[in-house]
Amino acid sequence: MQDFPLLRRDLLLGAAAAPALLAAASAPAAAQVEPTGGPPTPEQRRRMAWWHEAKFGMFIHFGLYAAHQRHEWAMEMEAIPVSEYQRLTALYNPAPTAARAWARLAKAAGMKYMVLTSKHHEGFCNWDTKLTNYNSVQYGPRRDVIREFVDAAREEGLRVGFYYSLMDWHHPDGARCADDLQARRRFVDYTHGLIRELMTNYGKIDILWYDVSWPLDAAGWESEKMNQMVFGLQPDIIVNNRNSLPGDFSTPEQRIAAERGGRAWESCMTLNDSWGYQRADDNWKTPRTIIRNLITCARDGGNYLLNIGPQPDGGIPAPSVRVLTEVGDWMKANGHTIHGAEPCRVTRSAYANFTRKGNTLYMHVHFWPGSDVSISGLKVRVLSAKLLKTGASIAVRQDPYRTHLTGLPDYAPDSPVTTIALECDGEPVQDTDSVRINKPRAGVGL
Ligand code: GLC
Repeated sequence: MQDFPLLRRDLLLGAAAAPALLAAASAPAAAQVEPTGGPPTPEQRRRMAWWHEAKFGMFIHFGLYAAHQRHEWAMEMEAIPVSEYQRLTALYNPAPTAARAWARLAKAAGMKYMVLTSKHHEGFCNWDTKLTNYNSVQYGPRRDVIREFVDAAREEGLRVGFYYSLMDWHHPDGARCADDLQARRRFVDYTHGLIRELMTNYGKIDILWYDVSWPLDAAGWESEKMNQMVFGLQPDIIVNNRNSLPGDFSTPEQRIAAERGGRAWESCMTLNDSWGYQRADDNWKTPRTIIRNLITCARDGGNYLLNIGPQPDGGIPAPSVRVLTEVGDWMKANGHTIHGAEPCRVTRSAYANFTRKGNTLYMHVHFWPGSDVSISGLKVRVLSAKLLKTGASIAVRQDPYRTHLTGLPDYAPDSPVTTIALECDGEPVQDTDSVRINKPRAGVGL
Protein backbone atom coordinates (compact mmCIF):
# COMPACT_ATOMS: atom_id res chain seq x y z
CA MET A 1 0.00 0.00 0.00
CA GLN A 2 1.16 3.47 -0.87
CA ASP A 3 1.09 5.30 2.45
CA PHE A 4 0.71 9.07 2.56
CA PRO A 5 0.86 10.52 6.06
CA LEU A 6 -0.72 13.80 5.17
CA LEU A 7 1.83 16.31 6.31
CA ARG A 8 5.05 14.32 6.64
CA ARG A 9 5.05 12.79 3.21
CA ASP A 10 5.88 15.73 0.99
CA LEU A 11 8.69 16.80 3.28
CA LEU A 12 10.33 13.49 2.45
CA LEU A 13 9.39 13.69 -1.19
CA GLY A 14 9.64 17.36 -2.06
CA ALA A 15 13.29 17.65 -2.96
CA ALA A 16 13.51 14.38 -4.86
CA ALA A 17 10.43 15.05 -6.94
CA ALA A 18 11.34 18.55 -8.07
CA PRO A 19 13.68 17.78 -11.02
CA ALA A 20 11.26 15.29 -12.54
CA LEU A 21 8.41 17.77 -12.32
CA LEU A 22 10.46 20.43 -14.05
CA ALA A 23 11.30 18.03 -16.85
CA ALA A 24 7.62 17.27 -17.14
CA ALA A 25 6.79 20.84 -18.03
CA SER A 26 8.27 20.44 -21.52
CA ALA A 27 5.56 18.01 -22.63
CA PRO A 28 2.21 19.49 -21.68
CA ALA A 29 -0.71 17.11 -21.45
CA ALA A 30 -2.78 19.30 -23.74
CA ALA A 31 -0.50 18.43 -26.69
CA GLN A 32 -1.65 14.84 -26.55
CA VAL A 33 -3.39 13.46 -29.62
CA GLU A 34 -5.64 10.49 -29.01
CA PRO A 35 -5.59 7.59 -31.47
CA THR A 36 -8.60 6.89 -33.62
CA GLY A 37 -9.82 3.62 -35.09
CA GLY A 38 -11.59 2.03 -38.02
CA PRO A 39 -15.24 1.10 -38.48
CA PRO A 40 -16.74 -0.96 -35.67
CA THR A 41 -16.36 -4.72 -35.61
CA PRO A 42 -19.52 -6.82 -35.12
CA GLU A 43 -18.35 -7.43 -31.58
CA GLN A 44 -18.11 -3.68 -30.92
CA ARG A 45 -21.53 -3.14 -32.44
CA ARG A 46 -22.94 -5.67 -30.02
CA ARG A 47 -21.34 -4.09 -26.95
CA MET A 48 -22.11 -0.55 -28.02
CA ALA A 49 -25.73 -0.90 -29.16
CA TRP A 50 -27.15 0.56 -25.90
CA TRP A 51 -24.62 3.41 -25.98
CA HIS A 52 -25.49 4.47 -29.51
CA GLU A 53 -29.16 4.36 -28.59
CA ALA A 54 -28.50 6.40 -25.42
CA LYS A 55 -26.91 9.44 -27.10
CA PHE A 56 -26.84 11.57 -23.93
CA GLY A 57 -24.84 11.06 -20.72
CA MET A 58 -23.76 12.97 -17.64
CA PHE A 59 -20.09 13.54 -16.85
CA ILE A 60 -19.29 14.30 -13.22
CA HIS A 61 -15.98 15.79 -12.14
CA PHE A 62 -15.78 15.45 -8.39
CA GLY A 63 -12.68 15.30 -6.25
CA LEU A 64 -10.61 17.44 -3.91
CA TYR A 65 -10.55 20.22 -6.52
CA ALA A 66 -14.24 20.71 -5.74
CA ALA A 67 -13.19 21.83 -2.27
CA HIS A 68 -10.59 24.19 -3.72
CA GLN A 69 -13.30 25.69 -5.96
CA ARG A 70 -10.98 26.88 -8.75
CA HIS A 71 -11.06 24.23 -11.51
CA GLU A 72 -9.71 20.69 -11.45
CA TRP A 73 -6.34 21.78 -12.92
CA ALA A 74 -5.61 24.16 -10.03
CA MET A 75 -3.02 21.87 -8.46
CA GLU A 76 -0.83 22.28 -11.55
CA MET A 77 -2.04 25.66 -12.79
CA GLU A 78 -1.32 27.27 -9.45
CA ALA A 79 1.63 25.01 -8.65
CA ILE A 80 0.12 24.10 -5.29
CA PRO A 81 2.50 22.04 -3.13
CA VAL A 82 1.27 18.52 -2.35
CA SER A 83 1.18 19.21 1.39
CA GLU A 84 -1.06 22.23 0.91
CA TYR A 85 -3.29 20.45 -1.59
CA GLN A 86 -3.77 17.45 0.66
CA ARG A 87 -5.37 19.67 3.25
CA LEU A 88 -8.35 19.95 0.94
CA THR A 89 -9.37 16.51 2.17
CA ALA A 90 -10.73 18.24 5.29
CA LEU A 91 -13.09 20.35 3.15
CA TYR A 92 -14.17 17.62 0.75
CA ASN A 93 -17.39 16.46 2.26
CA PRO A 94 -20.11 15.12 -0.06
CA ALA A 95 -23.46 14.48 1.61
CA PRO A 96 -24.47 10.81 1.57
CA THR A 97 -27.42 11.76 -0.66
CA ALA A 98 -25.33 13.69 -3.21
CA ALA A 99 -24.94 10.89 -5.75
CA ARG A 100 -28.67 10.24 -5.69
CA ALA A 101 -29.32 13.87 -6.61
CA TRP A 102 -26.86 13.61 -9.53
CA ALA A 103 -28.60 10.48 -10.79
CA ARG A 104 -32.09 11.97 -10.45
CA LEU A 105 -31.09 15.08 -12.34
CA ALA A 106 -29.40 13.02 -15.07
CA LYS A 107 -32.54 10.95 -15.50
CA ALA A 108 -34.79 14.02 -15.49
CA ALA A 109 -32.58 15.58 -18.18
CA GLY A 110 -33.07 12.56 -20.45
CA MET A 111 -29.57 11.23 -19.94
CA LYS A 112 -29.03 7.47 -20.01
CA TYR A 113 -25.61 7.03 -18.42
CA MET A 114 -23.23 8.69 -15.99
CA VAL A 115 -19.45 8.83 -15.85
CA LEU A 116 -17.78 9.88 -12.57
CA THR A 117 -14.13 10.75 -11.97
CA SER A 118 -12.79 7.87 -9.89
CA LYS A 119 -9.36 9.53 -9.82
CA HIS A 120 -8.51 12.76 -11.57
CA HIS A 121 -5.00 14.12 -12.23
CA GLU A 122 -4.74 15.17 -8.58
CA GLY A 123 -4.36 11.47 -7.67
CA PHE A 124 -7.05 11.26 -4.98
CA CYS A 125 -9.10 8.06 -5.20
CA ASN A 126 -12.85 8.29 -4.70
CA TRP A 127 -13.14 4.68 -3.60
CA ASP A 128 -12.07 2.18 -1.02
CA THR A 129 -8.77 1.27 -2.60
CA LYS A 130 -6.29 -0.97 -0.83
CA LEU A 131 -3.38 0.45 -2.86
CA THR A 132 -3.13 3.93 -1.36
CA ASN A 133 -4.54 5.63 1.67
CA TYR A 134 -5.07 8.80 -0.38
CA ASN A 135 -8.73 7.94 -0.80
CA SER A 136 -12.22 8.99 0.23
CA VAL A 137 -12.57 6.27 2.85
CA GLN A 138 -9.44 7.35 4.75
CA TYR A 139 -9.95 11.09 4.25
CA GLY A 140 -12.68 13.56 3.38
CA PRO A 141 -16.12 11.99 3.64
CA ARG A 142 -14.66 8.69 4.91
CA ARG A 143 -17.02 6.86 2.59
CA ASP A 144 -16.74 5.08 -0.73
CA VAL A 145 -17.98 7.76 -3.17
CA ILE A 146 -17.77 5.38 -6.12
CA ARG A 147 -20.00 2.86 -4.33
CA GLU A 148 -22.62 5.52 -3.64
CA PHE A 149 -22.43 6.67 -7.24
CA VAL A 150 -22.85 3.17 -8.66
CA ASP A 151 -25.82 2.44 -6.39
CA ALA A 152 -27.47 5.78 -7.24
CA ALA A 153 -27.07 5.34 -10.99
CA ARG A 154 -28.48 1.83 -10.88
CA GLU A 155 -31.41 2.97 -8.77
CA GLU A 156 -32.37 5.40 -11.54
CA GLY A 157 -31.82 2.78 -14.26
CA LEU A 158 -28.77 4.58 -15.65
CA ARG A 159 -25.65 2.93 -17.02
CA VAL A 160 -22.44 3.36 -15.05
CA GLY A 161 -19.06 4.68 -16.18
CA PHE A 162 -15.78 5.40 -14.45
CA TYR A 163 -13.40 8.13 -15.56
CA TYR A 164 -9.80 7.31 -14.64
CA SER A 165 -6.79 9.61 -15.13
CA LEU A 166 -3.54 7.84 -15.90
CA MET A 167 -1.63 11.07 -15.30
CA ASP A 168 -1.10 11.53 -11.57
CA TRP A 169 0.30 14.67 -9.90
CA HIS A 170 0.43 13.13 -6.44
CA HIS A 171 2.02 9.71 -6.71
CA PRO A 172 5.81 9.83 -6.23
CA ASP A 173 6.34 7.93 -9.49
CA GLY A 174 3.76 9.91 -11.50
CA ALA A 175 6.37 11.88 -13.47
CA ARG A 176 9.64 10.06 -12.95
CA CYS A 177 8.13 6.87 -14.41
CA ALA A 178 9.04 8.41 -17.77
CA ASP A 179 12.76 7.87 -17.35
CA ASP A 180 13.23 5.62 -14.33
CA LEU A 181 12.61 1.95 -15.07
CA GLN A 182 11.84 0.94 -11.51
CA ALA A 183 9.52 3.88 -11.02
CA ARG A 184 7.70 2.91 -14.21
CA ARG A 185 7.33 -0.67 -13.04
CA ARG A 186 5.91 0.46 -9.70
CA PHE A 187 3.62 3.05 -11.21
CA VAL A 188 2.26 0.77 -13.94
CA ASP A 189 1.58 -1.94 -11.36
CA TYR A 190 -0.15 0.66 -9.19
CA THR A 191 -2.23 1.91 -12.13
CA HIS A 192 -3.26 -1.54 -13.32
CA GLY A 193 -4.00 -2.46 -9.70
CA LEU A 194 -6.31 0.51 -9.20
CA ILE A 195 -8.14 -0.20 -12.43
CA ARG A 196 -8.44 -3.87 -11.42
CA GLU A 197 -10.15 -2.82 -8.18
CA LEU A 198 -12.60 -0.61 -10.05
CA MET A 199 -13.39 -3.39 -12.49
CA THR A 200 -13.78 -6.00 -9.74
CA ASN A 201 -15.54 -4.48 -6.75
CA TYR A 202 -18.59 -2.68 -8.14
CA GLY A 203 -20.47 -5.22 -10.24
CA LYS A 204 -21.15 -4.59 -13.91
CA ILE A 205 -19.50 -1.42 -15.20
CA ASP A 206 -20.60 -0.10 -18.58
CA ILE A 207 -17.88 2.40 -19.53
CA LEU A 208 -14.23 2.95 -18.65
CA TRP A 209 -13.24 6.49 -19.57
CA TYR A 210 -9.45 6.81 -19.48
CA ASP A 211 -7.86 10.24 -19.47
CA VAL A 212 -4.45 11.86 -20.09
CA SER A 213 -1.83 9.20 -20.65
CA TRP A 214 1.09 11.55 -20.02
CA PRO A 215 3.99 10.80 -19.53
CA LEU A 216 4.02 7.28 -21.04
CA ASP A 217 2.93 5.78 -24.34
CA ALA A 218 0.92 2.60 -24.93
CA ALA A 219 4.01 0.43 -24.49
CA GLY A 220 4.99 2.26 -21.30
CA TRP A 221 1.53 1.93 -19.76
CA GLU A 222 1.20 -1.63 -21.05
CA SER A 223 -2.13 -0.48 -22.39
CA GLU A 224 -2.84 -3.65 -24.37
CA LYS A 225 -2.53 -5.66 -21.20
CA MET A 226 -4.58 -3.03 -19.36
CA ASN A 227 -7.47 -3.35 -21.80
CA GLN A 228 -7.20 -7.14 -21.80
CA MET A 229 -7.54 -7.15 -18.04
CA VAL A 230 -10.49 -4.76 -18.24
CA PHE A 231 -12.31 -6.88 -20.83
CA GLY A 232 -11.46 -10.04 -18.90
CA LEU A 233 -13.24 -8.63 -15.85
CA GLN A 234 -16.00 -6.74 -17.70
CA PRO A 235 -16.70 -8.46 -21.03
CA ASP A 236 -19.44 -6.02 -22.05
CA ILE A 237 -17.67 -2.80 -21.13
CA ILE A 238 -16.90 0.05 -23.57
CA VAL A 239 -13.53 1.84 -23.31
CA ASN A 240 -12.42 5.13 -24.82
CA ASN A 241 -9.21 6.06 -26.62
CA ARG A 242 -7.28 7.95 -23.97
CA ASN A 243 -4.90 5.24 -22.80
CA SER A 244 -2.94 5.59 -26.07
CA LEU A 245 -4.98 2.88 -27.80
CA PRO A 246 -7.98 3.43 -30.11
CA GLY A 247 -10.42 1.60 -27.79
CA ASP A 248 -14.07 1.68 -28.81
CA PHE A 249 -14.74 5.38 -29.28
CA SER A 250 -13.13 8.76 -29.87
CA THR A 251 -13.43 11.65 -27.44
CA PRO A 252 -13.53 15.11 -29.04
CA GLU A 253 -13.37 17.55 -26.14
CA GLN A 254 -15.29 20.83 -25.95
CA ARG A 255 -16.15 20.53 -29.63
CA ILE A 256 -18.37 18.45 -31.86
CA ALA A 257 -16.42 16.55 -34.49
CA ALA A 258 -17.90 13.50 -36.15
CA GLU A 259 -15.62 10.57 -36.91
CA ARG A 260 -15.59 9.04 -40.34
CA GLY A 261 -16.46 5.53 -41.51
CA GLY A 262 -18.79 4.62 -38.67
CA ARG A 263 -16.14 4.97 -35.93
CA ALA A 264 -17.96 5.72 -32.65
CA TRP A 265 -17.43 9.09 -30.98
CA GLU A 266 -18.61 11.08 -28.03
CA SER A 267 -18.24 14.84 -27.53
CA CYS A 268 -17.63 15.78 -23.93
CA MET A 269 -18.44 19.30 -22.88
CA THR A 270 -18.75 21.52 -19.85
CA LEU A 271 -21.84 23.52 -18.89
CA ASN A 272 -19.63 26.52 -18.07
CA ASP A 273 -15.85 26.63 -18.72
CA SER A 274 -14.68 24.29 -15.95
CA TRP A 275 -14.96 20.52 -15.43
CA GLY A 276 -14.38 20.60 -11.69
CA TYR A 277 -16.31 23.09 -9.57
CA GLN A 278 -15.04 26.64 -10.06
CA ARG A 279 -17.02 29.00 -7.89
CA ALA A 280 -16.48 32.16 -9.95
CA ASP A 281 -17.07 30.60 -13.37
CA ASP A 282 -20.47 31.94 -14.39
CA ASN A 283 -20.06 31.43 -18.11
CA TRP A 284 -23.03 29.08 -18.35
CA LYS A 285 -24.35 27.76 -21.63
CA THR A 286 -28.05 28.22 -22.23
CA PRO A 287 -30.50 25.32 -22.43
CA ARG A 288 -30.89 26.14 -26.11
CA THR A 289 -27.16 25.79 -26.75
CA ILE A 290 -27.10 22.46 -24.92
CA ILE A 291 -30.08 21.15 -26.88
CA ARG A 292 -28.57 22.33 -30.17
CA ASN A 293 -25.32 20.57 -29.32
CA LEU A 294 -27.15 17.39 -28.42
CA ILE A 295 -29.05 17.51 -31.71
CA THR A 296 -25.82 17.99 -33.67
CA CYS A 297 -24.21 15.00 -31.94
CA ALA A 298 -27.27 12.83 -32.59
CA ARG A 299 -27.45 14.04 -36.20
CA ASP A 300 -23.87 13.03 -36.89
CA GLY A 301 -24.05 9.64 -35.17
CA GLY A 302 -22.30 10.63 -31.96
CA ASN A 303 -23.00 10.94 -28.25
CA TYR A 304 -22.99 13.99 -25.97
CA LEU A 305 -21.41 13.68 -22.53
CA LEU A 306 -22.30 16.79 -20.59
CA ASN A 307 -20.52 17.69 -17.40
CA ILE A 308 -21.51 18.85 -13.95
CA GLY A 309 -18.91 19.89 -11.36
CA PRO A 310 -20.50 19.46 -7.93
CA GLN A 311 -19.63 21.68 -4.98
CA PRO A 312 -17.59 20.35 -2.02
CA ASP A 313 -20.77 19.02 -0.35
CA GLY A 314 -21.70 17.25 -3.58
CA GLY A 315 -24.49 19.72 -4.34
CA ILE A 316 -25.00 20.56 -7.99
CA PRO A 317 -24.47 24.26 -8.80
CA ALA A 318 -27.88 25.93 -9.12
CA PRO A 319 -27.31 27.15 -12.71
CA SER A 320 -26.50 23.57 -13.79
CA VAL A 321 -29.71 22.33 -12.20
CA ARG A 322 -31.67 25.07 -13.94
CA VAL A 323 -30.20 24.35 -17.37
CA LEU A 324 -30.50 20.57 -17.10
CA THR A 325 -34.06 20.79 -15.81
CA GLU A 326 -35.04 22.87 -18.81
CA VAL A 327 -33.26 20.45 -21.12
CA GLY A 328 -35.22 17.66 -19.42
CA ASP A 329 -38.53 19.45 -19.97
CA TRP A 330 -37.72 19.64 -23.65
CA MET A 331 -36.63 16.00 -23.72
CA LYS A 332 -40.00 14.86 -22.34
CA ALA A 333 -41.74 15.73 -25.61
CA ASN A 334 -38.72 15.50 -27.91
CA GLY A 335 -36.44 12.83 -26.41
CA HIS A 336 -37.59 10.17 -28.86
CA THR A 337 -36.13 12.27 -31.71
CA ILE A 338 -32.71 11.96 -30.01
CA HIS A 339 -32.58 8.53 -28.39
CA GLY A 340 -32.06 5.93 -31.06
CA ALA A 341 -31.59 8.54 -33.79
CA GLU A 342 -29.65 7.40 -36.85
CA PRO A 343 -27.05 9.46 -38.72
CA CYS A 344 -28.83 12.17 -40.68
CA ARG A 345 -27.74 13.51 -44.06
CA VAL A 346 -29.82 16.66 -43.85
CA THR A 347 -27.69 19.28 -42.14
CA ARG A 348 -28.07 22.72 -43.70
CA SER A 349 -30.34 25.47 -42.45
CA ALA A 350 -29.85 28.94 -41.02
CA TYR A 351 -32.43 28.41 -38.26
CA ALA A 352 -32.88 24.69 -37.77
CA ASN A 353 -31.02 21.45 -37.30
CA PHE A 354 -32.05 17.86 -37.96
CA THR A 355 -32.19 14.32 -36.65
CA ARG A 356 -33.56 11.21 -38.30
CA LYS A 357 -35.15 7.88 -37.54
CA GLY A 358 -35.78 5.69 -40.58
CA ASN A 359 -37.62 7.81 -43.13
CA THR A 360 -38.74 10.36 -40.54
CA LEU A 361 -36.89 13.64 -40.56
CA TYR A 362 -37.06 15.78 -37.44
CA MET A 363 -36.58 19.44 -38.15
CA HIS A 364 -35.55 21.18 -34.92
CA VAL A 365 -36.15 24.93 -35.30
CA HIS A 366 -34.10 26.95 -32.82
CA PHE A 367 -34.72 30.40 -34.38
CA TRP A 368 -38.43 30.42 -35.12
CA PRO A 369 -39.06 32.51 -38.25
CA GLY A 370 -42.85 32.53 -37.83
CA SER A 371 -45.48 31.62 -40.49
CA ASP A 372 -43.30 29.34 -42.66
CA VAL A 373 -40.03 27.42 -42.78
CA SER A 374 -38.18 25.83 -45.69
CA ILE A 375 -35.65 23.13 -46.32
CA SER A 376 -33.38 23.52 -49.30
CA GLY A 377 -32.46 20.65 -51.60
CA LEU A 378 -34.39 17.85 -49.90
CA LYS A 379 -34.19 14.90 -52.28
CA VAL A 380 -37.22 12.93 -51.06
CA ARG A 381 -40.95 13.47 -51.10
CA VAL A 382 -42.53 14.58 -47.85
CA LEU A 383 -45.72 12.63 -47.23
CA SER A 384 -46.82 14.53 -44.13
CA ALA A 385 -45.55 16.99 -41.54
CA LYS A 386 -46.65 17.81 -38.02
CA LEU A 387 -45.66 19.88 -35.04
CA LEU A 388 -44.46 17.49 -32.38
CA LYS A 389 -45.54 19.63 -29.45
CA THR A 390 -49.17 20.10 -30.48
CA GLY A 391 -49.68 17.30 -32.98
CA ALA A 392 -51.02 19.88 -35.49
CA SER A 393 -50.40 18.91 -39.10
CA ILE A 394 -48.62 21.29 -41.40
CA ALA A 395 -49.11 22.04 -45.07
CA VAL A 396 -46.14 21.06 -47.25
CA ARG A 397 -45.37 22.14 -50.79
CA GLN A 398 -42.36 20.91 -52.69
CA ASP A 399 -40.68 21.91 -55.91
CA PRO A 400 -37.36 20.43 -57.05
CA TYR A 401 -35.46 22.85 -54.81
CA ARG A 402 -37.63 23.91 -51.93
CA THR A 403 -39.64 22.05 -49.32
CA HIS A 404 -41.91 24.73 -47.99
CA LEU A 405 -43.93 24.35 -44.77
CA THR A 406 -46.62 26.99 -44.35
CA GLY A 407 -49.41 28.06 -42.03
CA LEU A 408 -47.21 27.93 -38.94
CA PRO A 409 -47.98 29.92 -35.80
CA ASP A 410 -46.26 33.30 -35.42
CA TYR A 411 -44.65 32.27 -32.16
CA ALA A 412 -42.66 29.11 -31.54
CA PRO A 413 -44.99 26.46 -30.12
CA ASP A 414 -42.18 24.86 -28.11
CA SER A 415 -39.20 26.24 -26.29
CA PRO A 416 -36.26 26.58 -26.65
CA VAL A 417 -36.46 24.48 -29.84
CA THR A 418 -39.56 23.46 -31.82
CA THR A 419 -39.57 20.09 -33.58
CA ILE A 420 -41.43 19.32 -36.79
CA ALA A 421 -41.69 15.67 -37.83
CA LEU A 422 -41.64 15.05 -41.58
CA GLU A 423 -42.58 11.63 -42.93
CA CYS A 424 -40.66 11.05 -46.13
CA ASP A 425 -40.92 8.44 -48.87
CA GLY A 426 -37.30 7.35 -48.39
CA GLU A 427 -34.28 8.20 -46.31
CA PRO A 428 -34.13 11.99 -46.26
CA VAL A 429 -31.06 13.35 -48.03
CA GLN A 430 -30.15 16.94 -48.82
CA ASP A 431 -28.22 18.38 -51.74
CA THR A 432 -27.82 22.16 -51.57
CA ASP A 433 -25.07 22.16 -54.21
CA SER A 434 -27.65 21.23 -56.83
CA VAL A 435 -29.81 24.12 -55.57
CA ARG A 436 -26.95 26.55 -55.98
CA ILE A 437 -26.09 25.31 -59.45
CA ASN A 438 -29.47 24.50 -60.97
CA LYS A 439 -32.11 26.73 -59.41
CA PRO A 440 -33.07 29.03 -62.26
CA ARG A 441 -31.31 32.42 -62.28
CA ALA A 442 -32.99 35.67 -63.24
CA GLY A 443 -34.10 35.95 -66.83
CA VAL A 444 -32.01 38.03 -69.26
CA GLY A 445 -32.58 41.77 -68.79
CA LEU A 446 -33.92 41.50 -65.22
C1 GLC B 1 -8.96 16.95 -20.09
C2 GLC B 1 -8.64 17.61 -18.80
C3 GLC B 1 -9.52 17.27 -17.74
C4 GLC B 1 -10.90 16.79 -18.02
C5 GLC B 1 -11.00 16.06 -19.30
C6 GLC B 1 -12.40 15.79 -19.76
O1 GLC B 1 -8.16 15.96 -20.47
O2 GLC B 1 -7.33 17.40 -18.42
O3 GLC B 1 -9.43 18.08 -16.66
O4 GLC B 1 -11.15 15.86 -17.09
O5 GLC B 1 -10.28 16.59 -20.27
O6 GLC B 1 -12.44 15.37 -21.06
